Amino acid sequence: MTFPKTPDQNEAGASLQVTGGELGVQRIAVLLSGRGSNFLAIHQAIDRGDLPAKIVLVVSNVSSAPGLAKARALGLQVLALPHRKELSRASHEGKLLEALRAVEAEWVCLAGYMRLLSGDFVRHFHQRVLNIHPSLLPAFPGLRAQEQALKHGVRVTGCTVHFVDEELDNGPIIVQKPVAVMEDDTVSDLSRRLLREEHEAYPEALKRLFLEPWEVSGRRVLFGSKETGEDSRKRLKKRG
Ligand code: GRF
Repeated sequence: MTFPKTPDQNEAGASLQVTGGELGVQRIAVLLSGRGSNFLAIHQAIDRGDLPAKIVLVVSNVSSAPGLAKARALGLQVLALPHRKELSRASHEGKLLEALRAVEAEWVCLAGYMRLLSGDFVRHFHQRVLNIHPSLLPAFPGLRAQEQALKHGVRVTGCTVHFVDEELDNGPIIVQKPVAVMEDDTVSDLSRRLLREEHEAYPEALKRLFLEPWEVSGRRVLFGSKETGEDSRKRLKKRG
């Protein structure tokens, strides 16, 4: 399998985030609590050769999550870590961190993981924890985003892949995809169409992060060269 030059091999500039590494195979852990269709979309993108990555662990806080069973059936390493059995959030996250370290996970993809992660956890994986949300954030954060969108009467909603920070559905946005709302949409109609876009958006976000130079500037995720308009004018002038 060959992939384009990793960002550290191009002339992107030292201050850009550099991913890809020598081998270019990124180690992903997926955290889920339910059905796991986004996890499958990531898995399939890897299988197709679209993503230079490997899913090294699938973790769920719900032992009976269908997504966990799907991962097991695919032969992936899985871990059920029910939070209810833990004395505190810190002890649950401690075990989670230990498991992620043991498999040398570099990226943590939340895919329907119904549990807030603490600031401490997020700091351990600074700009390496991603989430997908079924709305165009910052609209309709939290639970039942599709229902919120319908109730509000928006004409367009969508999905968002973003970095995770300490606040709910809040971190810098990596990819968004719009979805039109139809007048006769039910929550399940809209959710179905959103899900189709989600399955495109998550692999796309990962692919961009893995294969392009990027940096986070304030709340903005900037892809590509850091060269500004002024820089390029100077460079062209020098060339004469
Ligand atoms: C998706 O709608 C996702 O946006 C949200 O939770 C749902 C998970 O679905 N965070 P699935 O388990 O990936 O099928």
